[in-house]
Amino acid sequence: MGRRGKKPIVLENVLVRDAGAKGKGVGKTEDGRVVFIQGVVPGDEVDVRVFKKKRSYMEGKATQFHKYSEDRIEPECEHFGLCGGCKWQNWDYSKQLEYKQKEVANNLARLGHVEVEEYLDILGCDTPYFYRNKMEFSFSNKRWMTQEEVESGVEINKPNALGFHIPGMWDKVLDITHCHLQPDPSNAIRNFVREYALSNNLPFFDLRNQEGLLRTLMIRTALSGEVMVLIQFYRDDREDIEGLLTALQEKFPEITSLQFTINSKGNDSIYDCDIELHSGRDHIFEEMPAYYKPDTKLKFKVGPKSFYQTNPKQAHALYVQALEFADLNGDELVYDLYTGTGTIACFLAQKAGRVVGIESVPEAIEDAHFNAELNGLDNTEFIVGDMKDALTAEFVAEHGMPDVVVTDPPRDGMHAKVVEQLLNMAPKRIVYVSCNSATQARDLGLLQEKYTVKKSRAVDMFPQTHHIENVTVLELK
Ligand SMILES: C[S@@+](CC[C@H](N)C(=O)[O-])C[C@H]1O[C@@H](n2cnc3c(N)ncnc32)[C@H](O)[C@@H]1O
Repeated sequence: MGRRGKKPIVLENVLVRDAGAKGKGVGKTEDGRVVFIQGVVPGDEVDVRVFKKKRSYMEGKATQFHKYSEDRIEPECEHFGLCGGCKWQNWDYSKQLEYKQKEVANNLARLGHVEVEEYLDILGCDTPYFYRNKMEFSFSNKRWMTQEEVESGVEINKPNALGFHIPGMWDKVLDITHCHLQPDPSNAIRNFVREYALSNNLPFFDLRNQEGLLRTLMIRTALSGEVMVLIQFYRDDREDIEGLLTALQEKFPEITSLQFTINSKGNDSIYDCDIELHSGRDHIFEEMPAYYKPDTKLKFKVGPKSFYQTNPKQAHALYVQALEFADLNGDELVYDLYTGTGTIACFLAQKAGRVVGIESVPEAIEDAHFNAELNGLDNTEFIVGDMKDALTAEFVAEHGMPDVVVTDPPRDGMHAKVVEQLLNMAPKRIVYVSCNSATQARDLGLLQEKYTVKKSRAVDMFPQTHHIENVTVLELK
């Protein structure tokens, strides 16, 4: 019986036809209604226990499998199914790629009515595991317990966890012993920090009552081999903090940047917190093969608050694609909108006349200047500003009319004023890099007033998840 004495709805023998919103399976009810199903892959045939019923769709969980899809594979990770991180580990990677390519094309066509002249094949990731350079783990004194643990009662006296939040449970954390997303020494560092904290009785954070010491652990590993660790504490217990950080540095001499912050706010965002350096440098360097000489590397400074693409090998593939779509001959003035720490700008500057990067975060622009100099590039300029206010006719008068614009906005896409200004400037070519093809579709739909969308290529930066990056190139009509 349901909560109010209602009998739960169970849909029988539903065929999972597709994947959909946030990676859930998609099936249909007998009367043709869409049903989103958790815990399945396309091709499975299941009974579904419905927990959400709306006029146009239902949502539920598979309770019984009548047929397993031929595209199922054995997940690599022991935490699969509980951890919300890689929901598609049980789905063949080539099928994930097929789905992502189709999803991008659907979004562009259906949401933006975008007519793309040519779709290039999706660019898959050669290393579909251990590809991330940044992970953030949470401490909690409310460890998520599995059904078996609860039933056995054996582990009930171990309440602390260091890992990931259980989807939809803001105070419950799944204790992670081996994550397949970040390369070594990530797992070893996290497990050492947990063991040290437990054996020294350092209190794990109590999210409900906002008390305890240990809040979050961020680990950054770079292709250069450098490692950054940042631990967030709730209160300033110096002796305990020093003890933990000193032990960590001794155990892992490969940590080149060990930092911490005291954050007693209600939320655990570090972006408005002061960061203190315990040992090493206050940044690490990430590296990427140069365009013309792939055996030499471009280097990028990455601070604890800096954005850097989280799949650094695939970021190179993405930037090569953006550069090829930009089709530069060496003389052009290029604007790089939403430049972050200037990584795309530096990559483009290898082949452009001049590149002007714009970005709203002042620290990122400081890093962008540093990165350009570090890489010996003297044809870049970086300006801080909110794009909708910065990209004006006056800006163009001061910095020059761009021949090509590359834009890489956050998930929300571009502000309508930015799209309008692009239409006013009318550069001959626009390269649009996006991590959300739904908002990209909206923006491209508007840009079609003056542009033809020539080519589109999805680049998979996030294997085992439903996320996908997409690059398109537009030519002035
Ligand atoms: C998807 S990231 C792209 C960064 C960079 N292109 C790269 O590949 O590393 C988006 C960037 O847009 C910046 N941003 C977000 N909103 C902005 C705004 N309104 N104006 C300017 N920059 C903004 C973010 O700080 C972030 O650096």
